[in-house]
Amino acid sequence: MRISATVNGETVHADDVWPGESLLYVLRERLGLPGSKNACDQGECGSCTIYLDGEVVCSCLVAAGQAQGRDIVTVEGLAEATGLHPVQEAFVQAGAVQCGFCTPGLIVAAHDLLRRVPEPDDLEIREALAGNLCRCTGYEKIMDAVRLAARSLRLREDAR
Ligand code: FES
Ligand code: FES
Repeated sequence: MRISATVNGETVHADDVWPGESLLYVLRERLGLPGSKNACDQGECGSCTIYLDGEVVCSCLVAAGQAQGRDIVTVEGLAEATGLHPVQEAFVQAGAVQCGFCTPGLIVAAHDLLRRVPEPDDLEIREALAGNLCRCTGYEKIMDAVRLAARSLRLREDAR
């Protein structure tokens, strides 16, 4: 079957899709968007987190057929014309990336938190990222990255 959807602002088509394959597979293997990672394929780790019609979901749990006509944003789509999004930049600056497998999902989850809660406290950050597992960092650098991203976004907003 053919799937048509909006991905990162562009209308795209994927052909020969088996309805039961995951949206994550379609993004990575058919549409050339390897940012979203497959660490468990079972909805347990959050490494495949994307926006689907504005809601964060685990793309490994979304059947490709369910993506028909939907609006999808992946970690690649968060980048801005001038470069990395402040949340992406903060993960780099804070040293929150080690193996990087968890990073795309964490960035999407943090992006979603900060658009809803511009000044989150630590508990709100932990709750927002609870579905995203990291085996490397011990999470403190990730917390630093989200705090830094929140500050950057607030400064940018104040400058407008
Ligand atoms: S790969 Fe989707 S939740 Fe782990
Ligand atoms: S940086 Fe390796 S799993 Fe998080």
